Amino acid sequence: MKKIGVLIGGGDAPGLNAAVKAIVYKAREYGFEVVGIKRGWAGMLELDTVPINVNKVENIASEGGIILYTSRTNPAKMPDGIQKCKENMKKLGLDALIAIGGDDTLGVAQKLCDAGARVVGVPKTIDNDLSVTDYSIGFHTAVSIATEAIDRLHTTARAHQRVMVVEVMGRYTGWIALYAGLAAGAHLILIPEVQFNLKDVYALLKKRKAEGKDYSIVVVAEGAKPTEDTSLIAKSLEKDQFGHVQLGGIGQTLENLIQKETGLETRSVVLGHLQRGGTPSAYDRFLAKMLGLEAVELVKKQKWGWIPVLRGTEIVPVQLKEVVAERKVVPAALYEMVKTFFQ
Ligand code: F6P
Repeated sequence: MKKIGVLIGGGDAPGLNAAVKAIVYKAREYGFEVVGIKRGWAGMLELDTVPINVNKVENIASEGGIILYTSRTNPAKMPDGIQKCKENMKKLGLDALIAIGGDDTLGVAQKLCDAGARVVGVPKTIDNDLSVTDYSIGFHTAVSIATEAIDRLHTTARAHQRVMVVEVMGRYTGWIALYAGLAAGAHLILIPEVQFNLKDVYALLKKRKAEGKDYSIVVVAEGAKPTEDTSLIAKSLEKDQFGHVQLGGIGQTLENLIQKETGLETRSVVLGHLQRGGTPSAYDRFLAKMLGLEAVELVKKQKWGWIPVLRGTEIVPVQLKEVVAERKVVPAALYEMVKTFFQ
């Protein structure tokens, strides 16, 4: 009987438990045993595992969080870390590993593959910035939560005739900001891919006021930067093991600047981890299950170094190395199109 390990690394994303359920169910069909590696690559390095079976996962698909936990541990940053993961796979008796993650986790998976280990991937990130797949696990839920929050902010902003700045997640890309901002009728959306001019922001908000519009909603992705100062606004500049700083603060900065420069009463809200917590949307559960099933198919076919992704309405396999090759950014033309609503 084959033994498959499953691990999840990086930020959590709604839908991951559904992916785990699908992997366990499909594995059972093929007579494979599944071992959960806890806390992502940290668990692999420390041999921290938990057996998982159909009974354990039967009712988890609608739950947020991750039954296997996660971490941002990067074995590639440690001396012989990749080699140790490979040796530990052997110690655990794993014939294959399914690594679920975004570009960081999947980058490690690729390195492990290059070192000769049998690994397949599954794409997840609420940021939706993986170029290989149309959508990744968690994005749909994050957009739904942000949309509902922005819908609610319209009414309080209007009641007080205020400018409301809503900061959403999106480290390097503005997918959540764009989708939720568009869906919820934001009057301005600011994304990391397109630097914005503060003067243009003030001008738009003043114009709206002059036209008798009571209030304005500005949606800003946490990684967005004004042309006047392109240094990242971050909570902490200390880098994690994958080289990322902890973002946060652009919403508050904009609140202060808008209030000072336009005289318009302004408040800011950070949606933060609310976007990642709680029940996954129906679509994320569906996507996660399809990707999980297909990942086990790839194991069965021994397609090491491959990952199932969504292209249109199809789940298709692509090579893991394509995942890390480039980031999927919001195309300039799409952003230009959405600008019609910035008035
Ligand atoms: O990578 C997904 C993400 O949610 C980013 O949008 C965000 O910048 C980051 O994770 C936050 O990470 P953490 O939960 O570690 O603060």
